[in-house]
Amino acid sequence: MRVLAAYGTLAAGCALAVGGCGEQSALEPRSDAARTIETLWWWMFAVACVVIGGAVVLLLIAWLWRSRPGFPLLGEREDVATGVVVLFGIGIPGVALVALFAVANFAALDETEAPNPRTTAMTIEVTGNQFWWEVRYPGTTAVTANEIHIPARTRVNVVARTNDVIHSFWVPQLNRKIDMIPGQANRVLLYADEPGRYRGQCAELCGLAHAQMGMYVYADPPDEFRAWLDRMSGPRQAPATDAARKGERVFMNEACADCHTIRGTPARGEVGPDLTHLASRSTLAALVIPNDREHLGGWITDPQDVKPGNRMPALGLSEREVADLLAYLRSLG
Ligand code: CUA
Repeated sequence: MRVLAAYGTLAAGCALAVGGCGEQSALEPRSDAARTIETLWWWMFAVACVVIGGAVVLLLIAWLWRSRPGFPLLGEREDVATGVVVLFGIGIPGVALVALFAVANFAALDETEAPNPRTTAMTIEVTGNQFWWEVRYPGTTAVTANEIHIPARTRVNVVARTNDVIHSFWVPQLNRKIDMIPGQANRVLLYADEPGRYRGQCAELCGLAHAQMGMYVYADPPDEFRAWLDRMSGPRQAPATDAARKGERVFMNEACADCHTIRGTPARGEVGPDLTHLASRSTLAALVIPNDREHLGGWITDPQDVKPGNRMPALGLSEREVADLLAYLRSLG
């Protein structure tokens, strides 16, 4: 019994580890869709426990009975032996799999399906790139990256596309995964019961930095969200200090401007994230490092060291240029 209890604890522990804990856990749902998925998950876990428990019990019986002929209690009858095999080998797994298939593909699918756009309050466009997320708010000029803001308690229609390979957009606390497939626009509903920050992750192997392709969804109180969107829709704040002005010149003269856009300046590159309001984000490189002066400096100096495989090259800037660039980028609130 002790052994069984130990195995049970181990199985539950592994399940929780796989299911994830805390900020990015499908077992801490914050929307109806995610709750449906959580219920399905627990049912699958329970059924899997019964199946593996049954297998372990049969193995134990076989071992304890190994020196005696026939089944315990059932004897040596051939038809009984066949019946046991059919029941445990075909009957019970068949019923369990069909039931799970029905629940997963009818009940759970209905609840988590792409929303009818007429039932949503707004649409956002999220585009996967190796290895970051671009976020646009149709009807506004706002463009941001990796940190998606939505109003809390509001149905948001997400249109998911990709600029290169297949990615998968997944915010486990809010809804199911949705693949981003070249040439196709898929949709998924984002809804959060309450304001908060929900971590998401690319869920489709997309290259070297796949595991470093995270995102945050911030569900803001609706009035805060509108103020944020207004701020994000505007051009960059003009540099106010000498260093920032010099930094802007460095940005425009070096390769930075070829790959990044800063609205209100000649920088129109579209390879990397829009940096118009870079300083308003809390992380860099799709959540790999915090967005502070020190980490931003390390990123500019040697991006491949911070996130191997990403498409940003080191430009070999002097210390002076990096310092000016930092003053500039830190001013883009
Ligand atoms: Cu993008 Cu994995």
